[in-house]
Amino acid sequence: MPSSSLKPIESSDIRAILSRMNLEEKIGQLVQLTPKDGILSEELKTLIQKGKVGSFLNITDPSQIEAAQLIASHKSRLQIPLLFAFDVLHGFKTIFPIPIALASSMDAELIEQVARAAAKEARAFGIHLTFAPMLDVCRDPRWGRVAESPGEDPFLASLLSSAWIKGFQGKNLSSSSLLAACPKHFVGYGAVEGGRDYNSVTISYRLLQEIYLPPFLQAFKQGAFATMAAFVAINGLPPAANPQLLKDLLRKDIGLEGPVISDWNAVRELVHHGIAENEKAAVAIAINSGIDIDMVSGLYSQYLEELLQEGKVKEETIDAAVQRVLTLKNKLGLFTQEPHPLKIDQNRWQTILKTNKQIALEAAKKSVVLLKNEDGLLPIAPSIRSIALIGPFSEERKEHLGPWSAIGDSNEVITLAEGLKRYAPRGTKINVVEGCNKFSHGTEDYQQAIKIAQHCQLIVAAVGEKANMSGEAASRAFLDLPTQQQKLIDVLSETGIPVVLIVFSGRPLDLSRIISKTKAILQAWFLGTETGDALGQILFGLYNPSGKLPITFPRSVGQIPIYYAQLPTGRPANRSFPSCRYIDQSNTPLFPFGYGLSYTTFHYSFPTLNRSRINYHQTLEILTEIENTGTVPGEEILQLYIRDPVASLSRPLKELKGIKRVFLKPGERQKIKFTISSVDLAFIDYEGKRKIEPGQFFLWVGPNSMEGKRAQFDLVP
Ligand code: NOJ
Repeated sequence: MPSSSLKPIESSDIRAILSRMNLEEKIGQLVQLTPKDGILSEELKTLIQKGKVGSFLNITDPSQIEAAQLIASHKSRLQIPLLFAFDVLHGFKTIFPIPIALASSMDAELIEQVARAAAKEARAFGIHLTFAPMLDVCRDPRWGRVAESPGEDPFLASLLSSAWIKGFQGKNLSSSSLLAACPKHFVGYGAVEGGRDYNSVTISYRLLQEIYLPPFLQAFKQGAFATMAAFVAINGLPPAANPQLLKDLLRKDIGLEGPVISDWNAVRELVHHGIAENEKAAVAIAINSGIDIDMVSGLYSQYLEELLQEGKVKEETIDAAVQRVLTLKNKLGLFTQEPHPLKIDQNRWQTILKTNKQIALEAAKKSVVLLKNEDGLLPIAPSIRSIALIGPFSEERKEHLGPWSAIGDSNEVITLAEGLKRYAPRGTKINVVEGCNKFSHGTEDYQQAIKIAQHCQLIVAAVGEKANMSGEAASRAFLDLPTQQQKLIDVLSETGIPVVLIVFSGRPLDLSRIISKTKAILQAWFLGTETGDALGQILFGLYNPSGKLPITFPRSVGQIPIYYAQLPTGRPANRSFPSCRYIDQSNTPLFPFGYGLSYTTFHYSFPTLNRSRINYHQTLEILTEIENTGTVPGEEILQLYIRDPVASLSRPLKELKGIKRVFLKPGERQKIKFTISSVDLAFIDYEGKRKIEPGQFFLWVGPNSMEGKRAQFDLVP
């Protein structure tokens, strides 16, 4: 592992390399392959030597990476180094909470630290590029990829996007502890119809601009150099076949200079989409639409040369793509790479792991959302003598890594049982039982669980989804807990002993049926390596939870899509019949966006404004005093929402425009300042143009999207 920075070469040298490349070598740079089981075959070694492959994904064994790199840098004609890519979504070896959990922390600095920590580990193994962050705003929890996402809101997603990029990339990508980011999936994949993965997306240009694009714009602004195109059809066209999206918007308007990578096999899938009549045509469409790197289909190497000869693809198109790939490699310092970059200095590695464990613990604690806490049941009183820890997640390790867990080692996960035992008051008896079969439906015998529960003062029920029930290709039509786990909660609640529920999941689950059966609920998502320690500290009050939901929790699947930034309707639900509501269920969510309790309480004052009107160049300062009115110290995430009540186009009932965190001791007060200006009030009008309209605006400062103290101001020209 090199400890110093590698130096990029001059861009003129890149052009010189390009001028020496033959067609086969050029095409090779656009080919990304994945070896079977991450091991290089002889065939792949030959391809590397011939310059017929430019990058790999999914090789994580440093000796394999080194072997491949040595062939490329020493034995291939032009000695162009390879690029190694991998999905480092929420950690590499140390596994941090899944992205939707991290989004619950609403803490950009924390996410930056997490990204940097992951980058250090992955780059030490020879990985250069991460297929992250995933920036798909999504409003449908049936979609399993909610787990990887920043949630439902473009403002929050953009804030976190910046943090991810800063963390992965730092200032100088050639540093040996940084990763190039590849924000994905450009753009709109989060809106797959019915929440069914790989399904098509239909969104208006306005929604694309206002909701789905902003986190990407933020990522590019922050220096993300590459991106991955979504493989689903957006308004009938997969991005791999959409030059308006990849060339006009992405290259010309946004100005992305680095390579666009297709998603897995996306070039071939143009045939399945009914866009290309065969694979060869798919290649022509993809490269002409702006896909520079073909991930795994292998079709670029098969057909590009032929297409060039037939005049269907121009050499300058290939050259431009190759130049982008070489520039990325150069930014990473790969052209001056040391011959043996992967000698891992064990001392340094151990130090990295130790530091990252601390970050993982901090991140896990900040990602937990307290959804319910009747009678202040949590934190567990120090007088507790006996606890029954029941449920299939009690002693679980592997599932806590969540989807996309890179090379995370489940043996390193601290279980909930271990965490409870570690932090419980001395002498507390903790009896642990699975309670029901993990995840399969079967005839369950709950007797043992009931017996154990009856002899304890408190039940902690650890339930949830299996990790692979969320993530890619893990859409669900029902969002309840697996039946046997619901039953378990039923029988436990019948004992009359208070139940604290800990829910592990990659998405909002439908908790309606069980909410009344529990006194307290912690939404724990998948917290990664430090699961047990984080939850142990939270349960016993050594840490006061502060997480807030980055996505709405529905009362039922029937309410989906449900999100806070709804538009007003002509017949609002609070009017008499007929109005915009279900006849069999309320419109309100079970838990709204931004929601999350604390072990303490906070009082918000009405916001005061530095002026009652602003013009297009002025800044509005919003001051809110917040007080910790409870008995323990705690952190609160204050949220600023606005509404434009009258505009040329219906505007959402609320839109998030600010997030601030504050830590207060009991009785302590602090004035918190938000600022906004006219650009924060802009929207995309009916013609698709960004517009700022004068008039009256409402704002709220509060603890979530449904509560808050209101003020108003005017925007004047
Ligand atoms: C397919 C997924 O859609 C994408 O997010 C991921 O980066 C690639 N596979 C590579 O693993």
